[in-house]
Amino acid sequence: MPRTPLFAGNWKMHKNVVETLEFLEAFLRKAKDVHGEIAFCPPFTSLWAAAERLKGSGVKIGAQNMHWEDKGAFTGEISPAMLKEIPCDYVIIGHSERRQYFNETDETVNRKVKAALKYAIKPIICVGESLEQREKGKTLSVVLSQVERALEGVDIRDGKELVFAYEPVWAIGTGKVALPSDAQEVIGAIRNKLSELYGARVSQNIRILYGGSVKPENVRDLMAEPDIDGALVGGASLDADTFYRIAAYD
Ligand code: G3P
Repeated sequence: MPRTPLFAGNWKMHKNVVETLEFLEAFLRKAKDVHGEIAFCPPFTSLWAAAERLKGSGVKIGAQNMHWEDKGAFTGEISPAMLKEIPCDYVIIGHSERRQYFNETDETVNRKVKAALKYAIKPIICVGESLEQREKGKTLSVVLSQVERALEGVDIRDGKELVFAYEPVWAIGTGKVALPSDAQEVIGAIRNKLSELYGARVSQNIRILYGGSVKPENVRDLMAEPDIDGALVGGASLDADTFYRIAAYD
């Protein structure tokens, strides 16, 4: 059973509410020939307005992070229940920028994955190696450890309830996209690890995206790889026409 492609835009700290709504109007005017599923992950402040505008469009909404607790004295944090109320279909968890700048760890990623699944919000779990780790030949050991740690104690029934995104840190925001064959090697290894952990049926259902300098010029070759099920896009997702050209690749 082929997996439905997913193209998700991670807007990071860009676009206020007005800019968000202007983008969505521009994108919705185009979004006829996209492949599979589209999701946008705006800043928290735009989530509700975006969800309201996208009602009935089939385009999904995601958050860029969340806490694992339901409520409490966690200044500045957002709970899974608050995201469910929007409603958010997805939540990005473990992005390398949160691991690098905000003390995200494999342990907190695991707590957030469990919390997201408890609220039926699909986690997009980010894994990826640094340039130094790649140059030392540690890519697979680093990435597969992140996969295993993210899923410790996690029960997956059919695999459609979560998504992985392989984002080599050295490709994020640099214009240096991974070679499709290299991305396939890592993503194929992730799928094999998922098969070890949950069996082939579940593993085949889990969508695994590539992220890191995806552009209209390189998306087709990435999508030609058998285990790559879409893209988590940063900079190129901030322009409606550019992101449409990625999602409608041909
Ligand atoms: O989460 C996706 C993001 O990290 C990739 O960024 O700008 O390289 O597409 P970019």
